[in-house]
Amino acid sequence: MNDFVYDIPVRVYFGREQLHHLGDELRRFGTRVLMTYGGGSIKRIGLYDHVIEEIKRAGLELHELGGIEPNPRIDSVRQGVRMCKEHNIDVLLAVGGGSTIDATKFIAAGACSELDPWDFLDYAKQAPISRALPIVDILTLAATGSEMDSGGVISNPETGDKNGRMAFPLLPKVSFLDPTNTYSVSPYQTACGAADMMSHIIEVYFDMQPGLYMLDCFMEGLMKTIIRYAPVAMHNPENYEARANLMWASSWAINGFIDGGRQQAWSCHPIEHELSAIYDITHGLGLAILTPRWMDFCLDETTVSRYARFGINVFGINSEMAPMDIAHEAIRRLSDFFFNTLGLKRTLPEVGIDETHFALMARKAVGGNVLRGFKPLRQVDVEHILHQCMH
Ligand code: NZQ
Ligand code: ZN
Repeated sequence: MNDFVYDIPVRVYFGREQLHHLGDELRRFGTRVLMTYGGGSIKRIGLYDHVIEEIKRAGLELHELGGIEPNPRIDSVRQGVRMCKEHNIDVLLAVGGGSTIDATKFIAAGACSELDPWDFLDYAKQAPISRALPIVDILTLAATGSEMDSGGVISNPETGDKNGRMAFPLLPKVSFLDPTNTYSVSPYQTACGAADMMSHIIEVYFDMQPGLYMLDCFMEGLMKTIIRYAPVAMHNPENYEARANLMWASSWAINGFIDGGRQQAWSCHPIEHELSAIYDITHGLGLAILTPRWMDFCLDETTVSRYARFGINVFGINSEMAPMDIAHEAIRRLSDFFFNTLGLKRTLPEVGIDETHFALMARKAVGGNVLRGFKPLRQVDVEHILHQCMH
């Protein structure tokens, strides 16, 4: 195992009856609160009213920014920054899925800076993020892990970019994880969330560095949890056990624990971000389409042992088969999970994407050079993977 620092100071309130702590938690950081949310799902499920009640009970001053888009846009971030400055906000309260929480992270950073918030995300500028307002979140969709990680991804329609950035000050201070807040998540978004979590783990698990046995077992457990419970939640949305397992798995898939000091770059995520930058598709859907094709591309004699372990321990494939056969069967089982069990679309044309922008997307995904992930990817390799997604 490599040396590493593990420091995830996010206080988690998990479960059904935790929101009465909200007022006290917000008050730790001040009295003026900016609450952020998306297109209205929190109003439909009654969560909005519940939150307002708690804020009133605590005697806090409330400001609101609703309408944050899925694949959140830099203009929403800019609007939030303006509001923070105008009302002298002390603490941000993000209520929603990854998009709302991500946008809130860059509002929090922008509020402590004179820079335009895109400067934090522009890969050429990478403005330092040394401070941010404190963030409290109430998660409503198990998927991205934004509730317990230091990253966020923002779209800029003017430049055609969807860029991500991690920084320690962006870590939420407090996370309320109530699985019942995800009962209303549609089967489609539940499926996309499951695909996203699977990908977060696969991006780390597929690495040839030895010596991380304990983390391998942990990741296999997380993947089995997602495979077991995503279909249960899709068919029985109010199954608490399923929603609870998915919610906690989403946080642990990306909160840094499974990395164990691994430095390897991710592969499918940079490619998917190019798809959702241009076509505004759901992140988990893009990952489901890409991941099996990427796995296929990376499979060879030097990597086959990893696939075999994955196939045996995650899908229970017969360990007596030849490793290469296990590897192919593992990719087939993963595809079956994404496209049959979860019912996600299998190809790019089915989600309205053709070859028009393949070269541009591939060039940006590899940062104009080589993406040093599980297997190094050049522009031509990414283009090949995208072509494999056409049928
Ligand atoms: O906007 P509202 O009305 O809230 O509706 C949302 C939205 O339409 C809806 N939804 C959320 N909670 C719901 C609900 N509908 C019914 N009941 C509920 N309880 O679901 C839709 C999708 O929401 P969104 O927040 O966009 O989904 P998700 O959590 O998957 O976030 C996706 C974004 O996160 C980024 C993705 O790229 C994408 O932009 N990611 C962030 C990461 C991070 N911070 O670490 C890592 C990920 O890899 C990912 O890139
Ligand atoms: Zn993701």
